[in-house]
Amino acid sequence: MRAVVVALADAGDEVELVDIPDPRPTFGQIRIRMVGAAINMADLHIIDGSPGNIDVEDSSRRQGLGLDVAGVVDMVGPGVRDIAIGTPVAALHFPHAMHAAAGTAAEYVIVPAADAAPVPDEVDLLDAATVPLNSLTAAQLLVLLGPARGRRLLVTGAAGGVGGYAVALAARAGWTVTGLARATDRDFLTRAGATEVITVLDPASGFDAVLDTALLNATALQAVRDHGAYVGVFPGFEPSPERGINVTSAVVSPDGDLLREMLGLTARGVLEPRRTGTLPLAEAASAYRAFRAGGQRGRWVLTS
Ligand SMILES: NC(=O)c1ccc[n+]([C@@H]2O[C@H](COP(=O)([O-])OP(=O)(O)OC[C@H]3O[C@@H](n4cnc5c(N)ncnc54)[C@H](OP(=O)(O)O)[C@@H]3O)[C@@H](O)[C@H]2O)c1
Repeated sequence: MRAVVVALADAGDEVELVDIPDPRPTFGQIRIRMVGAAINMADLHIIDGSPGNIDVEDSSRRQGLGLDVAGVVDMVGPGVRDIAIGTPVAALHFPHAMHAAAGTAAEYVIVPAADAAPVPDEVDLLDAATVPLNSLTAAQLLVLLGPARGRRLLVTGAAGGVGGYAVALAARAGWTVTGLARATDRDFLTRAGATEVITVLDPASGFDAVLDTALLNATALQAVRDHGAYVGVFPGFEPSPERGINVTSAVVSPDGDLLREMLGLTARGVLEPRRTGTLPLAEAASAYRAFRAGGQRGRWVLTS
């Protein structure tokens, strides 16, 4: 199959489309014929070789790119009973947990069946490809903030991949949500459920909690009241706790049941899929470059 990879030895941003053997599912795994694979910040971190992101035992190794996939199940491994061949599914694929030669930017993707969820008829597979990583991250990080009960939550980077889902899911859970974003993001954030959209952060805001997807760190912490809560997106890079504020962060985990819920909310229009554009695998380098240029809303999706 064809897969998009980056050579780990280079700190450059050149990606390659290579031919590698078709993967086969083993126990508990499914093989997905990729229809869409969204590009995320994590891909840029891998391309740039961010410290701590990948364990480079062999510097000649190549790493497959892509964490998000939607497509059609075309093979199932032994022990898989609840997903049949032919089912349209989406999944978050964690290369650390499996063979890293290919990510989701490839013609076939292997994931544990438990990490995949069926895509409802109402959701286009190319849109579904934009859902797993960012919706699961938002949902799992919100849990760390404790019960909503109308408390005031600030989401930084509110119009970004994680932030957009965080605003919608938090509002639905009963938070009073303020989104920090650009003025041009106001309509999207209001539709998502934000009560307030701000473009500048007042340190004296006294929010009960912040979900800091823009990595503002100490600046975001300042805007939280004493004994409030801060949740970050990069474990190890959180600000130092102060004033009794509970500072935490986490890395997303694949979760097929939670993803099923996220896709269901997408089908019902509660979550808005945002796709910037679609390009074939052969033009992946252009898509990564366009994503890196920033300022975009939604995700580029590679197609096979
Ligand atoms: N913990 C995990 O498991 C996990 C999972 C997924 C992502 N992440 C991380 O979470 C972060 C966000 O990811 P993402 O996919 O949501 O990125 P994204 O789509 O690029 O969104 C980031 C948002 O932050 C905004 N922003 C950046 N700098 C800002 C600043 N100084 N002030 C105000 N807003 C600012 C950007 O606004 P503009 O576009 O207007 O500049 C953008 O809307 C990334 O670092 C990613 O690696 C972590």
